[in-house]
This record gives sequence, structure tokens and C-alpha cells, in this order.
Amino acid sequence: MASRGPAGSHPISAEPLSRSIFRKFLLMLCSLLTALYVFYCLAERCQPLSGPVAGVPGLRVPPGPRELALWPAAAQRKRLLQLRQRRRVWPPRPREGSYEEPDTPGLVVGPGGSGAGSSVAEAPPGTLALLLDEGSKQLPQAIIIGVKKGGTRALLEFLRVHPDVRAVGAEPHFFDRSYHKGLAWYRDLMPRTLEGQITMEKTPSYFVTREAPARISAMSKDTKLIVVVRDPVTRAISDYTQTLSKRPDIPTFESLTFRNRSAGLIDTSWSAIQIGLYAKHLEPWLRHFPLGQMLFVSGERLVSDPAGELGRVQDFLGLKRIITDKHFYFNQTKGFPCLKKAEGSSKPHCLGKTKGRAHPAIAREVLRRLREFYRPFNLKFYQMTGRDFGWDG
Ligand SMILES: *[C@@H]1O[C@H](CO)[C@@H](O)[C@H](O)[C@H]1NC(C)=O
Ligand SMILES: *[C@@H]1O[C@H](CO)[C@@H](O)[C@H](O)[C@H]1NC(C)=O
Repeated sequence: MASRGPAGSHPISAEPLSRSIFRKFLLMLCSLLTALYVFYCLAERCQPLSGPVAGVPGLRVPPGPRELALWPAAAQRKRLLQLRQRRRVWPPRPREGSYEEPDTPGLVVGPGGSGAGSSVAEAPPGTLALLLDEGSKQLPQAIIIGVKKGGTRALLEFLRVHPDVRAVGAEPHFFDRSYHKGLAWYRDLMPRTLEGQITMEKTPSYFVTREAPARISAMSKDTKLIVVVRDPVTRAISDYTQTLSKRPDIPTFESLTFRNRSAGLIDTSWSAIQIGLYAKHLEPWLRHFPLGQMLFVSGERLVSDPAGELGRVQDFLGLKRIITDKHFYFNQTKGFPCLKKAEGSSKPHCLGKTKGRAHPAIAREVLRRLREFYRPFNLKFYQMTGRDFGWDG
């Protein structure tokens, strides 16, 4: 427009003043908004720091009026978490059995590689350590102890979405196979954690290992134990299917199931059958741990309602319920829930293609006989755990 036209010099001389005031005002507004935003982020980040973590043994809970007192630490923590999430390689999908987490040098290098990290592992997770993104290695406060083919991998992968969970990718097999290597070796396998984060591992064979309850209790009697269980008949078939995929020459499921088919005598020494006797395996655990320190996750519900089951697990671990419905979608082809996308990745993340294999067809009579066999053990297990898993409905 002709604003600078014949209107004269008056408005022209006045303009720079109002502009500079406007500019200052804008600057102040921006600063204010930035400050507000920073405080908003801090408040959001600070809340899960205390409270929920209190239930987890061995974790320090910051004292006092936390939002303000802790803000430098919280800001660092948030930044580090973001860094970590960006660095996480998704999807970390190597072959089954040789699963390794990229940021767990102890596992990749093996027992020999423990030297480099050990000095840092002793460092306290103080401000400097936080700034340097070190953290420290801790013995696990929670372990997924079983069961094989129950859905333990799925549970661990879902749990890892939580920013306060750090877990070993591979199965350490410490309390069954490598106990002689000592706790220092075990701890060195663990990922570094920041204050308030929970260290976890999963090794499904612990549940059926006689020595495991006493050994884990000797490490810490406060260890939280998670058992993913699934209908023992389906589990046995799934177990057999996995073996069959590696060794196609093994006998049929039926011939391995029965000691004497015509007498209907089931071979309880076959591991595929034996692992499903949950009540029997649970007994020694309850001699070392109170029932309240164990959580039994339904492998079936982990598939049909992953968010619901994850809610129970997060509560049990004293974590804020961060993993919810919106993290999952159901893949009809696979018949399995998938994570929509992992933090720091734009790709959806389903379980490896070895999961959800098609099971061989088993004669109905064999299934009936197996269900009959497992029923008393299942009922005993429901009684012991206080939860009816619905396998005999
Ligand atoms: C299987 O059981 C049947 C009936 O009890 C018996 O006659 C037979 O000898 C048994 N076979 C074996 C190999 O034990
Ligand atoms: C569902 O799973 C199938 C088989 O693994 C895969 O090919 C497909 O891409 C998946 N679809 C989605 C939407 O994830």
C-alpha cells in the first residue's frame, strides 16, 4: 500500500520505536514459551522418576520436592534417554538362539571381553557419569525365568519399549550353565543403566533348573521373577516344532509322547512333556521366594491382549504404565501382535519369522490323552498361583 506516501514523515519516524518494542516483546514471549516448554518437559519426565520406582528393590528414589531440586539431573537423563533410543538398532533381528544385543559388548565379545568395561561398571551413576552417558552395570532386579516357548521373547521385546527397562538381548544362561563364572561375569553381560532404570534378562530354562531358585535367591532375595506360561499341550507341540525345524529327522510327536502308545503311557522324561508340569517346577521356587515376588503371565493373553498383560507386568515391576494399546497392532497373517514402531525407529517391529511357525497336525486322540494327563497338574498350578489360565475350560 501507499503507506509511506504523502502521509508525511510523522509515522515513518515513529515506526522504528514501535518495532523495537514489538521485537523485544516477541523475544520475551519466545523466552517465556521456551521456559514454559522446558518446565513442562521436566515435569513430565520427573514424575516417573519417583513414586513408581519405589517398589523396585535396589533402586534409589530421589528425595524431596523433586521437580525443582532434580531438574538438572532430570534434563540430563531425558537427553541421554533420547540419545540411547536413537542409538538402539531396530529391529535387532538376528537368528533365533544367537540373539545378541548390539550395545551389550560382554555378550558379543564373550567372557574374555570383560576387562574393558569393568572399571566403568564400578563407577557410581552420578552426575558426571550421566553426562558422559555411562551409567553402570547392575545385576538384574527382575528376571523372566520361563517357560520355554511360552512367549518370553515377545514379553521381553514388548517390555524393552519402556524407557526404564534395560535388558540383555541374548539369554545369559547364568544360573543354569555358567554359574561357576561368578556374579561379576554375569553383571558384565548386563547393559548399562541410569538411575531409576531396571536391569532385566530372560532365560526360560531357569524355571526348570533345580539349582536356579537358591542361586537367584543368593544373588538377591528381592529379585522379581516373571514366568510366562502357556497351555502345556500347545507348548509341547511348539517345542517339538522348533526341534523339528532344526533336525527334520527326529521321530514323530506321537512316538516321542508315548512310552507305550497302546497303554497310553506318557513319557514324562521327554523334555517337551516335562517342562509343562508347571506345578511341579514351581514348588522349589516357592521355597525360596514369596508368591508375591513372582508374576505369572499368560502366554495366550500376551497374544490376545498384549497391552492388558503388559499393564500387569509394568505394575508388578513398579513401572509407570507407558506401554499401552497404542503400541500394538495385530498382524492377521502372522496371527501375532506386533509393536507399531520401536522408539527411534519408523518401522513396525514384529517378532522374527521363526516365531509363530505352523504346527504339525497331531491326532485328536493324542491331544485328548495329553490334556487328560496335564489336567491335575494344571489345576494344582491354578491353585498355587491363584489364577485360572483357562487351559482346561
Ligand atoms: C505296552 O502296553 C501293552 C498293554 O499294557 C503291553 O501288552 C505291551 O507289552 C507294552 N509294550 C511295551 C513295549 O512295553
Ligand atoms: C504381517 O506378517 C507378514 C508375515 O510375516 C508380513 O509379510 C507382513 O508384512 C506383515 N504385515 C504387517 C502390516 O506388518
